[in-house]
Amino acid sequence: MTKQVPVKVDMEKIVSLCRRRGFIFPSSEIYGGLSSCWDYGPLGVELKRNIKQAWWRAVVQERDDMVGLDTSILMHPHVWEASGHLEGFTDPLVECQSCHRRWRVEELTDNKCSSCGGEVTEPRQFNLMFKTFMGPTEDSASVVYLRPETAQGIFVNFQNVLNTTRKRLPFGIAQTGKSFRNEITTGNFIFRSREFEQLEIEFFVKPGSDQEWFDYWLKERFNWYTRLGIKEKKLRLRQHPQDELAHYARECYDIDYLFPMGWSELEGVANRGDFDLVQHQKHSGKNLDYFDEETKEHIMPYVIEPSAGVDRSALAFLCDAYDEEPDNDEIRVLLHLHPDLAPIKVAVLPLSRKEPVVKLAKELYSDLRQCWMVNYDDAQSIGRRYRRQDEIGTPLCVTVDFQSLEDNQATIRERDSMNQIRVPIAELKKTLQAKLEGEDLFILPLGGSVWKE
Ligand code: GAP
Repeated sequence: MTKQVPVKVDMEKIVSLCRRRGFIFPSSEIYGGLSSCWDYGPLGVELKRNIKQAWWRAVVQERDDMVGLDTSILMHPHVWEASGHLEGFTDPLVECQSCHRRWRVEELTDNKCSSCGGEVTEPRQFNLMFKTFMGPTEDSASVVYLRPETAQGIFVNFQNVLNTTRKRLPFGIAQTGKSFRNEITTGNFIFRSREFEQLEIEFFVKPGSDQEWFDYWLKERFNWYTRLGIKEKKLRLRQHPQDELAHYARECYDIDYLFPMGWSELEGVANRGDFDLVQHQKHSGKNLDYFDEETKEHIMPYVIEPSAGVDRSALAFLCDAYDEEPDNDEIRVLLHLHPDLAPIKVAVLPLSRKEPVVKLAKELYSDLRQCWMVNYDDAQSIGRRYRRQDEIGTPLCVTVDFQSLEDNQATIRERDSMNQIRVPIAELKKTLQAKLEGEDLFILPLGGSVWKE
């Protein structure tokens, strides 16, 4: 069905859907929540897993110039000295002299505390890294930091990967994992939180080929989002002006998405030059260079870094997929999620709660679960059950009825078009697989028919 009026997606609708259907809950909710930390519920955890899997597949599994890594969150404190985070990963903040809340200067009017109206101090640099202590003593010698980016785990393992995989330049290392930042300005749901998950690639290249690889990765990463269904008109590239570049970056573009609150960064692609390897070589005293067999020279590779976030991607995919359609006197809410991302791929919906229809439906359910995340729902009318699946983005529903017992056929209903086909049960799994991979619904298996258009 084609829609005439594009629906306006506001953040409240997304937050409400996520809460209502078990995608995302406030962290520690029974204690009143913990500011800008979020828990992913049964559907949210599937969405996140699917995002990570789609990313890993595109950047590691399907390439021969990439390998994966999973490094620890706590790292030697010297890492953050070398990387520049101890000194440079800061925000200038003012502090209220009466209630001691800290603010960015631009958040204040008349230089007064926005909470209590008190006088504020001069701006001071405030480091965004979370500190903790390692071991039984809590002194300065035992301070460690929760990593603010996964990237450093990759840089400090550069030689380990080089020595154990025999990769030659150009090649990359990918890692997904939690990062932590004591962000001052949070909000906009999961867009900016204090604990989040990153998807990072450090792609090592010969100096001189860095611009070419920078352009390549920018295009590649932009296309990853559109391949997974994000509308191209809702994405844009934004170059960082010189005064916005991070301390390590020679060049950086953001891939921005038009979120409900406006254009904001979805992913950053930076040319980090040789900054990190040089810094770690200097601070660790270990040789981190690369021997180029062709020129017989020792060189320091340059690094192109496409750095994305799982949570921010999840928010973009949810906002982009959200839709409402008139449905008699009601509204059909649906998520047009790409099948690879949909938390539940197929729902089995028996049209009767009586035997032997239930037996058949349960058999199909347990068979299909071998392949995908599948829901079984027999509560309320079939119309309501379809709506429940539409709202969580389930691409396909399978119904069985008394007729199925006679003709050994089941009905497949597609989420977006609501069209239906009837197929032999023996062909069901193969047909579902093909449709989930993008085949047109009306390409029918032998013995199949169009059920309803
Ligand atoms: N290693 C480079 C780096 O960390 P960044 O632009 O600070 O660069 C990369 O972060 C990505 O990580 C962002 O584009 C975003 O998707 C995600 N990200 C960063 N801070 C975040 C936060 N506070 N909450 C959620 N996601 C965040």
